[in-house]
Amino acid sequence: MTSVNTAIIPVAGLGTRFLPVTSSIPKVMLPIIELPAIHLIIQEIVDSDIQKLVLVIGNDADTIKQYFNPTESLKKILKSQNKEYLIDKIFELNQKIEIRYVTQKHPRGLGHAILQAKNLTQNEPVAVLLPDDIISTTDEPITKLMINEFHRIQQSVIAIRKVPDDLISSLGIIRHNSKDFHEKLFEITELIEKPSIKDAPSNLAVTGRYIIKPEIFDILENTQPGALQEIQLTDALSSLLQHQKIYGYKFPGEHFDIGTPLGLIKANIFYASQKSEFKKELMNWLKNQNSIY
Ligand code: UTP
Repeated sequence: MTSVNTAIIPVAGLGTRFLPVTSSIPKVMLPIIELPAIHLIIQEIVDSDIQKLVLVIGNDADTIKQYFNPTESLKKILKSQNKEYLIDKIFELNQKIEIRYVTQKHPRGLGHAILQAKNLTQNEPVAVLLPDDIISTTDEPITKLMINEFHRIQQSVIAIRKVPDDLISSLGIIRHNSKDFHEKLFEITELIEKPSIKDAPSNLAVTGRYIIKPEIFDILENTQPGALQEIQLTDALSSLLQHQKIYGYKFPGEHFDIGTPLGLIKANIFYASQKSEFKKELMNWLKNQNSIY
């Protein structure tokens, strides 16, 4: 049985929706409480039993590398304050996964970013995680759940979620022709980027988790850049669909689009409300805000 040993996280985009902060801080370093988003995503990979990670970075990713290698002076200070556990939090994660970096010199689209990882994937299926999408599941992490499905059906699996009408025209929407008994797996027949509501074949949107078979890389190499000279992953997946089956996996759990400021705020409130030290005060405060408006 083919297994999934490598994850790819592309973080070389410009993060324009978070300017001006992203002019000096990569978007994946923006925090959900005390952890940068990249930490949560890598934790998900580790908890999904994947051992290798390829991070596709832009030219200016020193902050990300630095996070995983805290300076000696910071370690010394924390040691003197008996707060080494703060550093351990990072090292624990770091030691459970091999992180390799590849550079995408110019942000030429998500598909182009994924293609940069090709030589580090040994012609095996890969997990692709977009850090803009934070997904909280109650049991196993979503990537693990998708790998389980991949093992069962041996076909590429894409996370999908039901979205309200007003979001349809800004997302990738699937057309499907069957679903399993539990309404969890949908056989995708078409991927349509940003359809108008009246042309949308469903309200199921592609969400940033993919388990993709290795043939995607040859297709990406031959995918022509579209608008803005970008190579889109959706176009390459549409071509893959001509040769192989791809399934949509309707995941259980909460989804946050932290690629937008409002999504990041919601994620922070959600995770803070799960922490006993914040829950009571946060909820009371929110309730009071509610009574003001
Ligand atoms: P997005 O297009 O949603 O994010 O890419 P962005 O470009 O960073 O942000 P905005 O739209 O300007 O605000 C989804 C993911 O793909 C990566 C991004 O870093 C993000 O994690 N990406 C996108 C690349 O690595 N390279 C690219 O050329 C484009």
